[in-house]
Parts: sequence; C-alpha cells; structure tokens
Amino acid sequence: MTRRKPSQQTSQHPPEACHDAAWLRAVRSRLLLWYRAHARDLPWRRTRDPYHVWLSEIMLQQTQVATVIPYFERFLTALPTIADLAAAPEEQVLRLWEGLGYYRRAQQLHSAAKQIVEMHGGRFPAEFEAVIQLPGIGRYTAGAILSIAFDVPAPILEANTVRLYSRLWQFDGDPTSRAGQTLLWGAAEALLPRRGAGEINQALMELGSQVCLPRGPLCEACPLAALCPTRAEGLQDQIPRVKSKPRVTPVRHLLLAIERRKKYLLRKGRDGDRWVGLWDFPRFELANGDRVTDSTALAKVIASELGGPIAIGERLASWRHTVTRYRIELECHAARVQSRELRGKTSHEQRWFTLEEIAELPLNTTGRKLYRLLCE
Ligand code: ADE
Repeated sequence: MTRRKPSQQTSQHPPEACHDAAWLRAVRSRLLLWYRAHARDLPWRRTRDPYHVWLSEIMLQQTQVATVIPYFERFLTALPTIADLAAAPEEQVLRLWEGLGYYRRAQQLHSAAKQIVEMHGGRFPAEFEAVIQLPGIGRYTAGAILSIAFDVPAPILEANTVRLYSRLWQFDGDPTSRAGQTLLWGAAEALLPRRGAGEINQALMELGSQVCLPRGPLCEACPLAALCPTRAEGLQDQIPRVKSKPRVTPVRHLLLAIERRKKYLLRKGRDGDRWVGLWDFPRFELANGDRVTDSTALAKVIASELGGPIAIGERLASWRHTVTRYRIELECHAARVQSRELRGKTSHEQRWFTLEEIAELPLNTTGRKLYRLLCE
C-alpha cells in the first residue's frame, strides 16, 4: 500500500476487510491468546470483588500502575469492606490516599461508599444505571467495574484504548471531538464479546499500555499487527492525532513553618481548593519579583489570611516540582507570630499541632516533605 500524508486523508478509511464480523472475531481471539500469555500479575487482577475492582479503577485514573499497587494494598488492609470505608472518618481516607494526588477521587469514593450502604445495603450494584449514579464514576469506570466484576458486556474507553482503537479503526481525526468519541465508543462496543467482556476489556487496556505505545509502538510484538490498517500504512506516528500540550507556567510559592511552643500552624483546604480536606502549612503565591523577607504587600496578605502579623525567618529549603501545567518553585521558611495570638478572622480553618499530631493528619506531598524536614 502507498503511504499517504495525513493531510490527504479523510477522517476514516480503513481497508475493506476491516471491522466486519470475521475481523472482529480474529481481533478478539488473538488478543485473548496474547493476554493470557502476557498479562501482568496485578493485585486487582486476582479478584473479581467489585469493591477491589472499583478501588483499583479510581486509583488508576491519572496514576501509574506501579504507584498504585502499594496504595491499593494498604487501603484494603485498613478498610477491607465497603461498610468499613463508609464508616471511616474522612481524615483516615485522605491519609490513606496521601501522595496519590487528585484527592477529590478519595472524597468521592468515600461518598459513594456511604451511598452504597444507604441505598444498596452495602453491596456494590451490578446495574449500569445504578453504578453511573455514584459519585466519581463516569461511563469508563462504570464499564470497567461492571465488565470486570460482573461480566456485564459494557464497553470501555480510556487513554490507552483511545490510542488502540484509533489505530485499529485508522481514525485520524480528533479523538476528543464528538465524532471521535462516537466512533471510538462504537469501536469499544463492537469489540465486546457476549461473554468474557471483563477479560477482553482488560486485554485491550493491557495491549494499549504495554504494546500500542504513544510513540514507537511495538508493532513487532503486537498480536494484532496483521489486522491493523494503521500499521499496514505506516501511519502509527500520525494516529491518533495528538493535541499540543499546554505551555508550562512558572510560579513561586512560599510555605511557612510557623512555630509557637513546639506546635505548628496548619490550615485545612476548603471547597474549591486543590487540596480540599487536606491539611497544609500556610502557603502563599509569590508575585514575580517578591523577596520573601521584605515585601510589605506579601506581609499584608499573610497577616490578613492568618489573622495577625507573622515574622518570616530563615529559609529552610527550596524545592522545584511540576504539577499539571505549573512548574512550581517552592520556598520554605521558618516563621513565628509577632503578637501573642492570631485573633483576626481567617480565610481557612487553622489550628496548632505538635509534630506527633501532624504525623496522623492527611497532608499534601510538599506539606509532608516539610514536616519530615522539621522532624530531623
Ligand atoms: N488502567 C486502568 N484500569 C486498568 C486496569 N484494570 N489494569 C491496568 N491498567 C489499568
């Protein structure tokens, strides 16, 4: 076949023999043979308990498998049933999630567990309409849980399968467009067998994540290579179409270890904050040229947010890290209150804690890093 440039393509034009019943059967059977020989042994694959499958799917949203494994195991040891999760205090749930990020996932999981106890007697529902009503569960997650735990023939579409289906259907349009979503969900449905949907769905995700890589897919190792129109035309680098990444914005933050009589002032993230429900050392955004120790504007903001004036002392550490599209330069300083009490109205719930108490609280990642530094 001749190789065409993407600009000359229409949005979808697989070869004739693609996507008919025989092609779909061939895809399923080669995929399953490959999966049974190559599937990674992951803790959530040793069970069909819907609570375990649900927890794994929520943790795996935006987070890599290797990071999830120890969190998954620790979480289930601490909260082995949906009823245990529903009855746990929110701080315990967040503490178990600490370091995984996207903490809203943990809060929604917790709310959903309470709903399952109230509305379904503590048993995870097996009907799509009931599952999709639960907080934090969208079409993908509902499909994954229902197919893996209950073998319901429900389709799935997430980052790895978007790439795989785009290539198998030779779809070179925008996968996030309405037309793209319709085509890709249709592909996911077409691939489902009547029985064994859970295994096929996991095999599709595994092939997408281990072989059908974004750049340099391992087509020589792919059981579907001979059935793949994108591979036949050598268009793997052009399909799926990738959006340009948003530009990284540099920002500077200040984190204050404010000490008074062996206790530190912490604030709790409010609704709308990135770390809602988690505790943190007082954190402030710095304007571009702000020098931490001699900016009157900064001193005013800090005093008004914390309820009194603060004297900023020595720098304890300086860290750089990247979160979503921000490159953050974080300066940590020791500090103390200037008057005897912080009496003014404050923007957040705030309290003084000893280091022993902080050990038990849910903190965000850099907050925990500063805590460790203070313990040394
Ligand atoms: N990513 C999302 N769900 C997954 C699963 N069940 N196994 C491996 N990776 C995944």
